[in-house]
Amino acid sequence: MSSQKRVIVVGGGLAGLAASIKLAEEGIPVDLISMVPVKRSHSVCAQGGINACNDVARQQGFSEWVHMDETLYGGDFLAHQPPVYEMTHWAPRVIDLFDRMGVPFNRTLEGNCDLRLFGGSLFRRTFFAGATTGQQLLYALDEQTRRYEAEGRITKYEFWEFLWPVLDADGVCRGCVAQDMRSMEIRAFPADAVVMATGGNGLVFGQSTNSIVCTGAAAARCYQAGAWYANGEFIQVHPTAIPGADKCRLMSESARGEGGRIWVPRQAGDQRDPREIPEGERWYFLEEKYPKYGNLVPRDIATREIFDVCVNEGLGVGGGNMVYLDLSHKPKDYLETKLGGILEIYRKFAGDDPTEVPMKIFPAVHYTMGGMWTTYTPQDDNKGMVKGAPNTMMTNIQGLYALGEVNYQFHGATRLGANALLSCTFDGLFAGQGIANYVREESTAAGDMDGGMFNNVVDQEKAKLKAMTDSSGDENPYAIAREMGLEMTAASTVVKTEDRMNEALKVLHELQDRYQRIGLADHGLWTNQNLGFARAVGDMLLLAEPILVGGINRKESRGSHFRPDYPDRNDEKFLKTTVAKYNADTKRPDMSYENIIMGLVEPRARTYGKVDG
Ligand code: FUM
Repeated sequence: MSSQKRVIVVGGGLAGLAASIKLAEEGIPVDLISMVPVKRSHSVCAQGGINACNDVARQQGFSEWVHMDETLYGGDFLAHQPPVYEMTHWAPRVIDLFDRMGVPFNRTLEGNCDLRLFGGSLFRRTFFAGATTGQQLLYALDEQTRRYEAEGRITKYEFWEFLWPVLDADGVCRGCVAQDMRSMEIRAFPADAVVMATGGNGLVFGQSTNSIVCTGAAAARCYQAGAWYANGEFIQVHPTAIPGADKCRLMSESARGEGGRIWVPRQAGDQRDPREIPEGERWYFLEEKYPKYGNLVPRDIATREIFDVCVNEGLGVGGGNMVYLDLSHKPKDYLETKLGGILEIYRKFAGDDPTEVPMKIFPAVHYTMGGMWTTYTPQDDNKGMVKGAPNTMMTNIQGLYALGEVNYQFHGATRLGANALLSCTFDGLFAGQGIANYVREESTAAGDMDGGMFNNVVDQEKAKLKAMTDSSGDENPYAIAREMGLEMTAASTVVKTEDRMNEALKVLHELQDRYQRIGLADHGLWTNQNLGFARAVGDMLLLAEPILVGGINRKESRGSHFRPDYPDRNDEKFLKTTVAKYNADTKRPDMSYENIIMGLVEPRARTYGKVDG
């Protein structure tokens, strides 16, 4: 009897849920694997909003084309243009869909969806639900997922961890092997396509705004199995977060979109209460340097300026690494309506009320622009992608797809704020159609195939599990992860130099050696979180390498990748995607470049109207 074709979706954030819903709609059963309850996927942490053009934005002169142009400009022209065209032209439909699903977008008194300003734009074109937009969108998709679950079209495997893709003799992906994080059972999931929607890799940098499952381990495992990794060096550092001992908590860009101002006292080491510092003694450095965009310059620019003011000029608040993000001049009711979610977070974690006292913030690692390499079919004129093409967002491994943050498409060298919720949802919905076509048209049901290839990968993962639980070395995986995070943050985030990155690469190789001698504190075979994290550390150590080597090789500055030793953008040599291929013999990445598909907008200098001096 032939089994029904099915798809595995790994990851329950917006991209994973959108793809699952689309596939279920197309009548294709989905196994949805997620390390956390899908409602706790990292999309839930997105705060400020989702970008799109609606009629109100159009009346200001905004359009889908302008949205595309500002996305390409924001990304310093490193993004392929057809996917960006498609995403920005789909954006209004994505909003309509969420609206129909009942997302409580903020509304104007006339009943229209309210719009706010956001980074990298001079137009109000960001839809929002207070400052918990990601949560509202995720819950809306979760409801639809539950509907299909009740109908038997989606089967959820929450608290399961993806371990490895299963490839047949021709290198085609036929499923994956995963582990139940409670019983520690390891088993194979045959499928006709596997969709990775596993998010970013913030934990490679230790502290970040990311959730603790954002290790990048799933992508790293696919990379070791032969999937290419693209543009690893492009990591976004968000300018405004609350630094914390455990993690950094995002203070949304929407605070600036709603009028928040960034400043430091003009006098170094000024110890006065900020409310007592008169206007003339405050330095609103973003407004002064970028009069056109002010506090709403893109994230990489705001981050570098804050870094410069604190680290190089020594003007950080109280002489430390901190600047003020000030909302205290805005009416309290207004702030509660528009930004309630983040005000609550600040009160809880910093202990002050941002409606009365300026917040103290500093940049933190936030988003992974690079990710698994994927392809698509462009339209003949490059205006968009061919809908339903089976290769849409397929990796170099046939049958293995990557969507959402783990997919390197859409953002280039820096992502604009509020384009993540859009790109993740759009990617799931748009590529979902192509995946359905691939499964229907191109592959034979994996469930009917010889079980040997599945057993081999199950045995491989059981052997790894045994080696880990038997391990008794003297190296602590948590200490190794901490050292990696500190080193990666120091060498490969806001400011990068060749010498510092080379030094970090040496440290990374030492950490990789030390990792061979780890010992686990917990050897049990029931909910062993120690094991899951230690296993991920090995994968993070391998993924950190293309991030560093990509950064060393890219001898230019572009978007989030800033090299004072090569301060200019070099389109002639580097208007290209970095592609890393894991070499199983050397255990190192083999690096190459690939041209960008352009055709719609010519690269121009990315200045955001900075005034000289
Ligand atoms: O700042 C924020 O609200 C984050 C939004 C985003 O990353 O798109």
